[in-house]
Amino acid sequence: PLPLIIDCDPGIDDAVMLMMALGSPRFDVRAITTVAGNVPLRLTSRNARMMGELMGRPDIPVFAGCPRPMLRPPVTAEDFHGESGIYGIDVFEPKAPLQPSHAVDALIRLLKAAPHKGMTLVVTGPMTNLACALVMAPEIAAHIREIVIMGGADTEGGNITPFAEFNIFADPHAAAIVLETGLPATILSLDATHQVRATQARIDRLAQIPGPRAAMMASLLTAANNLETRARPGTKVPMHDPSTIAWLLAPEMFETVNARVTVTTRPGKEFGRTKVRPMKTGPHRWVTKANADAFFARIEDILRIAP
Ligand code: BDR
Ligand code: CA
Repeated sequence: PLPLIIDCDPGIDDAVMLMMALGSPRFDVRAITTVAGNVPLRLTSRNARMMGELMGRPDIPVFAGCPRPMLRPPVTAEDFHGESGIYGIDVFEPKAPLQPSHAVDALIRLLKAAPHKGMTLVVTGPMTNLACALVMAPEIAAHIREIVIMGGADTEGGNITPFAEFNIFADPHAAAIVLETGLPATILSLDATHQVRATQARIDRLAQIPGPRAAMMASLLTAANNLETRARPGTKVPMHDPSTIAWLLAPEMFETVNARVTVTTRPGKEFGRTKVRPMKTGPHRWVTKANADAFFARIEDILRIAP
């Protein structure tokens, strides 16, 4: 199995992503780190532990990270995730406590202990934790195999401003630090995730799979759709964060271009915008196409393995 650290801000789609990562035998999730994003840090940290417990993996350590972005004022997204962050399931206080150390310290320690290019990072929230870790201990870069990021938008335009996607907008300075390292990163932006939507037919198929986890995923996606429809009538919710795990499971479901991606940190209407410059030797892989049916077939596979 692929050793993985997941940095997230659950979030309904982060929760679906965690269900995929923890439910698949293909991953060895070493730690979950949390950040303020969709909801404040206290809630993203509780939600991550809750998902560990619901997936039968309370043993995976959860480390709370940065309670706010680097420079800009905090922004949250309760409209799309509910006040609890995971509208669609009944929240509870998980048994496993948070780890005592800070997520940034944990990232540094775990990466230093990993072999050269030995650790994959999945980042599905604002990139504050990873940026801090790279500033504090740049030598950790050598231990990273790939960073798989959900964030950004190019041809699709933004989802929080006309240009910016939420995760990048919520901490553009952190995103700029991470991308400027030139570390190999695969970026699943709105250009890709808007191609994979939880239609009713797809949710119904998942709901037919026996077991509590399929029911839970169907409930999460239904809740996400209800919130999505309120904000954008007629649209079905895109599979943002789950696309990171889908990429690691089956990259052949996607098409990519090599690029160098930069972030606009200058205040103004393009604040938080990602700019994609395609280039043969660019450090970033920008995902341009996704096969939605194949994507959902993978989710079904996982739910059948771990009902
Ligand atoms: C991203 O923003 C968050 O609201 C979601 O969890 C996802 O990570 C999509 O723009
Ligand atoms: Ca997220």
